[in-house]
Amino acid sequence: MIFPQQRLRRLRKNGAIRRLISETALNVDDFVAPLFVREGIAEAQPIASLPGIFQHTRDSLKAEIDEILNLGIPSIILFGIPAKKDATGTEAWNPDGIVQQAITDCKSVSGDDLVIMSDLCVDEYTDHGHCGVVKEDGSVDNDLTLDLYKKIAVAQANAGTDLIAPSGMMDGQVAAIRQALDENGNLDIPILAYSAKYASGLYGPFREAANVTLENSDRKSYQQDWRNKREAMNEIKADLNEGADMIMVKPAITYLDIIAQAREITDVPIGAYHVSGEYAMIKAAGEKGWIDEKQVAIEQLTAVKRSGANFILTYFAKEIASCL
Ligand code: PBG
Repeated sequence: MIFPQQRLRRLRKNGAIRRLISETALNVDDFVAPLFVREGIAEAQPIASLPGIFQHTRDSLKAEIDEILNLGIPSIILFGIPAKKDATGTEAWNPDGIVQQAITDCKSVSGDDLVIMSDLCVDEYTDHGHCGVVKEDGSVDNDLTLDLYKKIAVAQANAGTDLIAPSGMMDGQVAAIRQALDENGNLDIPILAYSAKYASGLYGPFREAANVTLENSDRKSYQQDWRNKREAMNEIKADLNEGADMIMVKPAITYLDIIAQAREITDVPIGAYHVSGEYAMIKAAGEKGWIDEKQVAIEQLTAVKRSGANFILTYFAKEIASCL
C-alpha cells in the first residue's frame, strides 16, 4: 500500500533530494542593506538594540560600501541622521545635508555596481519625530508635507540617488515625488513606494538607530492599522496609479499574508522590509542561546521570499550573504 505521507517522506530523505525539489532559494541578490549615516560624529557608533549595525560617519560608510560590494549585495538603502533637527526637517532637503553627501560618497565608491536607494521621509530630521509637518492640534498636515517631500526628492536626485523610497505614508506622496523628479529631469529614477506600512511595534530599535523620539504620540493616523488587510490592497493600488515602479510591505514576518495577496494583484516587483524589531528579536534570543540565530534568520527571510517578495530590506544582509 502506498500512503501519500510515505511518498512525501521519501522526498525528504537526504540533503541532495531536498535541494533538488526545493521551491524557494534565498540568494544574495535578494538583499537590500539598510545603512545609517550620522552627521557630527568622529567614529562609527554601535546601535545597542541592533547588534552589528552602526551609525556611520561618511568615511566608515564608504568602507561599509566596499564590504557590501565584496559580498555581492546588490543594493543599500540610506537613512541620514542630522546634527540638528527642527520642526520641518530642513536638513532633509539641504543640498549639503548628511544624506545628500552620503549618497554622493556611496556613488563615488560603487558607481553602477550597487543600487543606492534613499529613504524619503522627515522623521529622522524633525525634532518631534513625525513623518510630516505637525499642525497646532498635533495632527500631521498631509498636503504641506507633500511640498517638503518634493524638495527632498530633488535634493536626493541631484546628489545622485539611484532610487527613491518614500516611507512617510502621506496620501499622494508618490504622485508628488514623481512630478518633482520629472520636472527636475530625473525621468529615470524609479520610486519604490512603502505602500503597505503598518503602525507596528517593531520599529523600536530603528528609532534608537535614527535618534527619533516620539513623545506621547504615535503614527496611527497615517500608518496602517494592523487589523486591516483590504486597506493594504487599496494603498498598493493607489500608489501604482500614482506611478510607483515597485511597492513594499513593512514589516515582513507578521504581514506575509499581505505580501502574498499583493503578489496576486500586481506584477511589479515587491519588496518587503524585515524591520529593526524583527532583527532585534532574533539577535536577542540568539544571544541568550535560545535559538540558532542564523537558522532562524534564513528561515524567516526565505519565508518572506516564499510569500511572494522579490527582494528584502534586512539588517541581516551582510551576515547572511556571507553564509549563503
Ligand atoms: C520612516 C521609517 C521608519 C523605518 C523605515 N523608514 C520608521 C518608522 O516608521 O517609525 C523603520 C524601519 C525599521 O524599523 O527597521 N522614515
